[in-house]
Amino acid sequence: TGVPAADAAPLTATINGKAVTGRPGETILECARRNGVYIPTLCELHDIDHAPGTCRVCLVEIKMPHADKTHLVASCTTPLQDGLAVNTRTPQLREMQRLQVELLLADHDQDCATCIRHGKCDLQDVAQFVGLRQNRFFDPARVAARPIDESSPALIRNMKRCIRCQRCIAICRDGQGVDALIQINSGLDTAVGLRHGLTQKNSACVTCGQCVLVCPTGALGERDETDRALEMMYDPELIT
Ligand code: FES
Repeated sequence: TGVPAADAAPLTATINGKAVTGRPGETILECARRNGVYIPTLCELHDIDHAPGTCRVCLVEIKMPHADKTHLVASCTTPLQDGLAVNTRTPQLREMQRLQVELLLADHDQDCATCIRHGKCDLQDVAQFVGLRQNRFFDPARVAARPIDESSPALIRNMKRCIRCQRCIAICRDGQGVDALIQINSGLDTAVGLRHGLTQKNSACVTCGQCVLVCPTGALGERDETDRALEMMYDPELIT
């Protein structure tokens, strides 16, 4: 996406009331970024062709030309259309984004201080951006039931921190061609796992580390880094 056909006419639209020129094939998110408008994202990724569209934090409000009503859509998967009025900042929209982040945190490990991504975590950043102040749906039993796979000498997969964005699945399949990771289960039990129920060590994983690089949280970590975070839990003197 994002590359205009040579003979295609540009699209005109508005984002937050400002006129913008879109490129055919461009998503609302891509056009907003080109025009310096920030929209929070957790699953979209430059390095993969199609956004998984799983996190739903990139919601924007749109109004079609001549339409009476507005709609909320995911900006990473919705193409810009001619005459579209896009708003990225309404109170109703922020409320929906807050709710979405709150749901992502319902079975997410709350111990941010010992996480390898603390302070450089996309989920923390987005929660702050949308103004999240509560965690009404948090269920410690669901967190406890989520596994940690420490079988690999190179990587640790801590599913207690996974938000199921599927960036890791996409980069492993489309970027690296390894295709070791898959979505498993469904509903509240949806998770990321290894094909055929294997562990990280016994799977097709080649420990390239690309999944660690694209993970928006601390769910995937290189072994040394994760070990140090775990050590710090037990020996506070290591914290400098
Ligand atoms: Fe659009 Fe995740 S960034 S759904």
